Amino acid sequence: MKKKIVSTLLSAAVAASMAGCAIAPGAGESEAAGSGSSDELQVGIVLPTRDEPRWIQDEASFTSILDNAGFTSEVLFSQGSSATELTNVESLIEKGIDVLVICAQDATAAAQAVEVAHNAGVEVICYDRLITDTDAVDYYVTFNSYDVGVQQGQYLIDAYAGQTDVPLYLYSGATTDNNAFIFFAGAWSVLSSAVESGQFTVANCDAIAPYIGQTLDVTADHEALANILGTITTNWDFNTAKSLAEANLVTNGADLKGDCAILAPNDGTARAIADAFTADADVSSFVITGQDCETASLGYICSGLQSMTIWKNTAELASTTCDMVNAILSDNAPATTTTYDNGSISVPSNETAVTVITLDNINAPVDAGYVNASDIEGYTG
Ligand code: BGC
Repeated sequence: MKKKIVSTLLSAAVAASMAGCAIAPGAGESEAAGSGSSDELQVGIVLPTRDEPRWIQDEASFTSILDNAGFTSEVLFSQGSSATELTNVESLIEKGIDVLVICAQDATAAAQAVEVAHNAGVEVICYDRLITDTDAVDYYVTFNSYDVGVQQGQYLIDAYAGQTDVPLYLYSGATTDNNAFIFFAGAWSVLSSAVESGQFTVANCDAIAPYIGQTLDVTADHEALANILGTITTNWDFNTAKSLAEANLVTNGADLKGDCAILAPNDGTARAIADAFTADADVSSFVITGQDCETASLGYICSGLQSMTIWKNTAELASTTCDMVNAILSDNAPATTTTYDNGSISVPSNETAVTVITLDNINAPVDAGYVNASDIEGYTG
């Protein structure tokens, strides 16, 4: 599917090699003359919200990588609303896009938007979050989200090696986000046996009790996971995370405090939960996970208020997406490395690795230019 003229092969190839998006031979060449106007938009990108640094990083990565590769693109934000997401998709279709890259606000509600895109002949790439229960998705580009959870869980296990009865507080992302299920299943795949062996005592989630000693599968155990996540969800929201942690601490006595292990799903919620635990006089210390490598959380790591984060390099994900866009616009099949079951079809997918960041390797994202040292409070290099 290729509707329009792309900029010249030479300039696209040179720019793409600088930007890390591999332009295949033949890509960027115009197809049959007159198939479209070169000022039409080629790639539409829809991201969930401007209000989290994570998605601003993605926007910046996309804008530079697609632009350098010679593709015309536009990024729109859904601002937490599936209705806005649909309107955004419709307006991008109006502007003539060939490829829609969409990070869904809500995994099931977004099916409607991608079906509209598919019906208009637009190829759909799910970005970071899988859209479920529809066959109107063509590809999925993602970080290895299961590994994110495994690394978070393993970090807690290693931090309390050799100890018993450590109170373990579990928190999850939004239940409308398929990733929240994957992160939690990954974390539980390692924490489950650590709870069974007595290293940890779960302090805030009765719903997990039947699954101690067992692993949970994102697809087969979806209902069980939805039930568990429903009781510990932060909804990816700072205030919800803080209130939930405060409520857990009010309910629990001093026997479930002291030195605590906390599974926090991402950086924004980790800082909120850390603030609640810091304020409780019966909590002597805590180890808390995170995700996204936000500068504020790198600052928390420098001050000992957050233990780790997971660096998901958005430039790598945008570059993989750019390669896919290039293949699609050249009528080639994009290279994929795995598949994901979205409840309707098996979606050809590309997975990108993640990196654990602690105080020991906090220089890595700075040295790579992912974050500015001057933005990290307390950073001494
Ligand atoms: C992303 C995380 C992000 C979270 C909240 C997830 O789908 O993978 O990186 O922190 O959404 O926006």
